[in-house]
Amino acid sequence: MLDLNEIEILQVALAHEERARAFYVRMAERHGGSTAGDLFVFLSREEEGHIRRLTSRYGIPEFEKKWEEKFLPYLIDLARLAWEEGVAAQYTTGPEAVRRGLGIARKAESQAIAFYAESGKIVEDKKTKTLLAELEEEERNHLAKIEGYLADLPPAPR
Ligand SMILES: [Fe+2]
Ligand SMILES: [Fe+2]
Repeated sequence: MLDLNEIEILQVALAHEERARAFYVRMAERHGGSTAGDLFVFLSREEEGHIRRLTSRYGIPEFEKKWEEKFLPYLIDLARLAWEEGVAAQYTTGPEAVRRGLGIARKAESQAIAFYAESGKIVEDKKTKTLLAELEEEERNHLAKIEGYLADLPPAPR
C-alpha cells in the first residue's frame, strides 16, 4: 500500500509524467522521421496531456521540480536506465536503439500503470479517482502500442 495522501499522489504522478515526457521527447528527437520517432512523439504528447490534467486537478499551473527529490523512492529512474541500456551513448540510431528505447518505455508505462492502480484505491475524492482510472487506462493503451511495435521489430541480433 502506498503511504501517500491525495496531494502527494498527484505530485508523484506529475513527477513521473514529467520524467516520461522528457524521455519520450529525447527519443523522438533522436528517431525523428521514422515510425519509431512518430510513436515517441505520440507518447510525449500523451504524457504532456496527462501533466495538464493532473495540474488542473491539483489546481496548480505546473509541475514543480522539487517533487522529484521528495518522492525519489516512488519514481523510476529513466536517465539511469537509459545509461545502463546503452541508449544514452552507445545505441543512438538503428533498430537496436529503438528496441532498447522502447524497452525502457515499457518499464516506464508499467510503473505508471501500477502506480495509478494502487493510488486509485487510496484516493477518496471521486473526481481524482476518476482521473487516476482514466490515466491508468491510457497508460495501458501506451503499453499496448509499445508492445505492438516491439513485436514487429526484427529479432534482436545475438
Ligand atoms: Fe502518463
Ligand atoms: Fe504513458
